[in-house]
Amino acid sequence: MTSVENNSLTTSAGEFLLSCRALIDAELDRLIPQEAVEPARLHRAIRWSVFAGGKRFRPALLLAVGQTFGADSARLLRTACAIEMIHTYSLIHDDLPSMDDDDLRRGRPTCHVEFDEATAILAGDALQTLAFQTIAEDEGLTTEIRAQLVGELARAAGTPAGMVAGQARDLDAESKTIDPEALEQIHLQKTAALICVAARCGAIITGADRGELTAITAYGRNLGLLFQITDDLLDVTATAGKMGKTPGKDARSRKATYPAIHGVEATSEQIDLVYRSACDALKGISRPAKLLESIPKLIAEREH
Ligand code: IPE
Ligand code: IPE
Ligand code: MG
Ligand code: MG
Ligand code: MG
Repeated sequence: MTSVENNSLTTSAGEFLLSCRALIDAELDRLIPQEAVEPARLHRAIRWSVFAGGKRFRPALLLAVGQTFGADSARLLRTACAIEMIHTYSLIHDDLPSMDDDDLRRGRPTCHVEFDEATAILAGDALQTLAFQTIAEDEGLTTEIRAQLVGELARAAGTPAGMVAGQARDLDAESKTIDPEALEQIHLQKTAALICVAARCGAIITGADRGELTAITAYGRNLGLLFQITDDLLDVTATAGKMGKTPGKDARSRKATYPAIHGVEATSEQIDLVYRSACDALKGISRPAKLLESIPKLIAEREH
């Protein structure tokens, strides 16, 4: 198995993200049933959504944290892919007509547009179960660590405090006036929970101590918040060509977002604040973390 460039060599987050992508995609290709396997339509739909040019930010974050704590990518890769599976499932379901009703994702028609709604629902379901299977069957990890990772991921992806809970709150808040605390809770749950768990899993696999895990949790939480606030802003400022999804959709759906509630200028101030909190959290780690230090800037300044 090829390995991503070592942390001491690669300290720029952008380069690191790029260098991870091929490794993650190759492992996803091994883990996900090929298109010819029956039921072929389902597997075509899964692959349509997974191999469509996602940034692979969550799995790359797991690899970055794991490598900072001294693990090689072979021990990290399957859990990283499991998190990308959960993320892709969340996107497929997020785009459904009964949810955000989007027809463009990762630069191509959404899963339910290209296939049909039932197939898209099942593709999401299958990716979710394959994620947990992938961790449970990862022979490179002890059974204890596998069990811990499964629990962590289920908690972050589910309810009452994970991604599914956040998605429920997000839909419930459409066309309503909510306060800034409620908005932050939506963002923490629908997006930051999965990003935070990616960071935590990287630390857990490498046996980080309690103090380091606490620091990584604060880092991941703020990085996740930063990720969704910038997503809200890009929905206002970016183009479909750059983003690979339809801009202006949040305002049309009267979504509760940072620009809608705070205005664009205050949203930029929030980005600075959360950016600083993510950087500060790393002070709790007593080893070189140049790569992790460069990630918040990449997210704060992202254009897609
Ligand atoms: C989109 O996530 C959904 C959000 C949580 C904002 P990404 O911006 O990571 O989407 P991909 O994986 O690159 O397509
Ligand atoms: C979605 O937030 C977060 C998920 C859990 C998928 P958004 O609805 O803003 O994500 P996009 O903009 O459609 O990618
Ligand atoms: Mg949504
Ligand atoms: Mg959406
Ligand atoms: Mg969005």
